[in-house]
Parts: sequence; C-alpha cells; structure tokens
Amino acid sequence: MRIIVQKAKCQGHARCAAQAPDIFKLDDDGYILLGDIEVAEGEELPASRGVRSCPERALELTRC
Ligand code: F3S
Repeated sequence: MRIIVQKAKCQGHARCAAQAPDIFKLDDDGYILLGDIEVAEGEELPASRGVRSCPERALELTRC
C-alpha cells in the first residue's frame, strides 16, 4: 500500500499528521513533505484515516 502525495493541493491543515504522525511527515511550515509514502504492514488503518482526514484531498491511497 502506498500514499500518493499531491503537494500542490496541501494547504497545511496537518490533520493527516494528527491521525498518524509516524506516517505523515510535515515540513517546518506544517505542509506535507513531497514524495509518495510507503505504508508499512500493520499501518494500513492509521494511513487510511490520515488520507481521509485531508480536506483538500491531497492524499490518495493506492494498492500498487
Ligand atoms: Fe496537507 Fe491535507 Fe495533511 S492539507 S498537511 S495533506 S491534512
């Protein structure tokens, strides 16, 4: 499982990191760091919660 980050859509709400701070890393200004995120086994639930928490739909979960 992987999370695709569309950094251009991120507005720094930080809700993703509030759900799963170990998965969603933010920069010093509170914006998500660029790059796809590999989700470790057992982390699927918090990853999914973080993705769904983003009001800007900047995060997308993919199985491949
Ligand atoms: Fe950005 Fe959405 Fe997280 S706006 S900081 S990706 S909740």
